[in-house]
Amino acid sequence: MKLATKYIHAGMEPDPSTGAIMTPIYQTSTYVQSAPGQHKGYEYARSQNPTRKALEDVLAVIENGKFGLAFSSGVAATDAVIKLLSPGDEVIAGNDMYGGTYRLFTKVFQKFGIKFHYVDMRDEKHMEGLLNSNTKLIWIETPTNPLINITDIAAVAVIAKKANALLCVDNTFASPYLQNPLDLGADIVMHSSTKYLGGHSDVIQGALIMNDADLREKLYFIQKSCGAVPGPMDCFLVLRGIKTLHLRMKQHCENGERIAHFLRNHQAIEKVYWCGFEDHSGYAIAKKQMRGFGGMMSFILKDDSIENANRVLSSTHLFALAESLGGVESLINHPASMTHASIPKEERIKNGLTDSLIRLSVGIEDVEDLIEDLNMAIG
Ligand SMILES: Cc1ncc(COP(=O)(O)O)c(C=O)c1O
Repeated sequence: MKLATKYIHAGMEPDPSTGAIMTPIYQTSTYVQSAPGQHKGYEYARSQNPTRKALEDVLAVIENGKFGLAFSSGVAATDAVIKLLSPGDEVIAGNDMYGGTYRLFTKVFQKFGIKFHYVDMRDEKHMEGLLNSNTKLIWIETPTNPLINITDIAAVAVIAKKANALLCVDNTFASPYLQNPLDLGADIVMHSSTKYLGGHSDVIQGALIMNDADLREKLYFIQKSCGAVPGPMDCFLVLRGIKTLHLRMKQHCENGERIAHFLRNHQAIEKVYWCGFEDHSGYAIAKKQMRGFGGMMSFILKDDSIENANRVLSSTHLFALAESLGGVESLINHPASMTHASIPKEERIKNGLTDSLIRLSVGIEDVEDLIEDLNMAIG
């Protein structure tokens, strides 16, 4: 199936009890058994729910995987992956990633004896010297949040396999429309479904997709044992969002390209971070592993002061100043004080995330209106 057909038809069966074309919201906590242990595959809704099951099947199909698991947030999905590990295990992760992932690794899991190394994943060779028999997981985000750095997934997958470590790719920024990490050798794909999969800024949810049945069993055990499962209404919203993923992503990419070039040509802008520029350090890899360059970008102003950045951040009308991304509406964000505030300042600056960096999630409105809004705000 081609992408558009897949997103509309993937894994969807008419509801067996009524024939409803859309999966009903099974708002129930438990299921009646005819005798102890005799049930229809559903015992208790933390372990199984038909709306969640429909979504998990769709998630698997759209990421070209065999199994999907849905979680109550993207962070809960990440949490489940790290719970595969034991004290003494080591993780190699990118040094530019979502601040909440960094916070989870350093503030929650480090104290349980898991060791995290952070490296610049623009070149996988930076992992050399860190790999050892304790390395159990390599964690990458590509494109990264917020600097839009690119990692060569296939190259890292080869290294992970050799080291006997799992490779998990946070595919939130690209979405399955632009990139499918399992096809490139990753073991697990992670999504903050809150973003492009949901697509309408009305749900918090996460996802994991994998091919290996043993790995699925381990992650399912963690999902039901730790209990970070999404409710059926939220699963319904993500199921609905996925049906238009191709249309939205096409427009995000088109608008993103126009706005990236507009910003780059603006006399008040110093630098624009967007992986569709031919002189972007990851352009060749992005072109190889992605189907487009997306609508996420960051920029800094020539007058690189926090005051000036704050002025722009507070002056847009269509771009709403808010955390999150991937919805139909455009958002403007200040990573240093918002999405990445949990990363210590020194660490942030060392990795290129300056105090004045502005991030955009370009929505699917009329691009001329978006350009006018930015032009007016930048001045
Ligand atoms: C790249 C990335 N990964 C993970 C997350 C966490 O997802 P959630 O907010 O759904 O828990 C986010 C949230 O912004 C993100 O941008």
